[in-house]
Amino acid sequence: GHYKTRAAEASSEELGVEKYLQLFQLSPEMLQEVSARLRKDLLRGLGKHSHHKAPVKMLPTFVRATPDGTEKGDFLALDLGGTNFRVLHVRVEEEAQKVLKMDSQICAIPQEMMLGTGEQLFDHIATCLGDFLESQNLKGKTLPLGFTFSFPCEQLEIDKSILIRWTKGFNCSGVEGKDVVQLLKEAIHRRGDYDIGSVAMVNDTVGTMMSCGYRDQSCEIGMIIGTGTNACYMEEMKNVKRIEGADGRMCINTEWGGFGDDGSLDDILTEFDVEVDKTSINPGVHMYVSQLFRIITPPPFEKMISGMYLGEIVRLVLVKMTKDKLLFKGQISETLGTPGQFETKFISEIEDGLENAKKILTELGLDWDPVDACVVRLVCDTISSRSARLCAAALATLVNRIRNNRKLDHLKTTVGVDGTVYRKHPTSKLQKAVRLLAPQCDITFLVSEDGSGKGAAMVTAVAQRLAHQFPV
Ligand code: GLC
Repeated sequence: GHYKTRAAEASSEELGVEKYLQLFQLSPEMLQEVSARLRKDLLRGLGKHSHHKAPVKMLPTFVRATPDGTEKGDFLALDLGGTNFRVLHVRVEEEAQKVLKMDSQICAIPQEMMLGTGEQLFDHIATCLGDFLESQNLKGKTLPLGFTFSFPCEQLEIDKSILIRWTKGFNCSGVEGKDVVQLLKEAIHRRGDYDIGSVAMVNDTVGTMMSCGYRDQSCEIGMIIGTGTNACYMEEMKNVKRIEGADGRMCINTEWGGFGDDGSLDDILTEFDVEVDKTSINPGVHMYVSQLFRIITPPPFEKMISGMYLGEIVRLVLVKMTKDKLLFKGQISETLGTPGQFETKFISEIEDGLENAKKILTELGLDWDPVDACVVRLVCDTISSRSARLCAAALATLVNRIRNNRKLDHLKTTVGVDGTVYRKHPTSKLQKAVRLLAPQCDITFLVSEDGSGKGAAMVTAVAQRLAHQFPV
């Protein structure tokens, strides 16, 4: 009783934890500064001569239009790089303006395969697709296929996409630097029992934007806050200096997770963010390798925001506080002491209520008292708030850029969103921070309905519509 009230009312200062949390609490001025730095990096990524060295890659997607409602047909979709690998059969109906998921199947990708050879991975994908077609009686059909491949790719055409590097725990040999469409087709031909039609390569952000675009045609941004974080948006072709042609727009996959790879965010990194790099599955994944100096630095932005790392950051803070005798009577349990054991989903669960916090602390084998539970909640809240506000700063940069591009005083736009971290947390902090940083923009957030599945089919459908309208 007494303890509980005291802890609930006590400030972090009184509890002695202020010094650990202060560095995570970014002021509005700092967020403004982060947004300004990203604004410059967007330009570097778009520039013809600066993009090679740019930490924010600004990858052209060859998606030139959002849906206009006349798309139609049957499509296959593959979704790799999120929580699960999936195969889908999607129907786009023009009359009803509907995207229907006819059927889908989840295929597990064993951990060994995530770290095995590329050939094994693509054979597995081709097998899953083959089994699915068989079960759906679609084997003789040769349907067009949208491939949501949520990794940074240098796209040369809608159906030519070179993997720059693996992220998020994948590390298959022989895929980086190769065309993913080619690898998929080769695997299908190795089997020889079915074929696919034209392929469209899709980043999950793009699928998310496109799946919302069918419902709301002012949706011109797609954002993911999940295992990783990233966003795409519609940019004016004249600003996409790496590609010929100045008319119209193209969707740009920003790969903002790499923001800070050149050290530009070092001043806001805490010791815990730096530490996380040593324990994450593929450390230094977004590392920025300068051609001249080979400087390798960790990927700060994705690390501070996304689900792959948030739990680990919380764990490291809790371990430090415990070592300093501020928590759990100074006793670290074996589970708390093990990297990866504090799952990101615990954060939102703990934020949801003190009872959850107590249950999770018990499961982690910790000897907690009521004050401990409150401090843990405070830590979770601090880390997830920082994630939301940094994301808001980045999103504000994008909407402000679109507004300036169009020389508007005021922009009304829609952002399609997805990702486990976004779905599980209250979105008020994110929205409040964006409003503060982009006061001239009025943003509607639309949670995507299966962007990586239906959205990928939609990208394929739009590509087909354009191909028929403007045949080459
Ligand atoms: C990582 C990938 C990016 C993807 C994001 C969200 O940042 O590099 O391509 O969009 O995760 O899944």
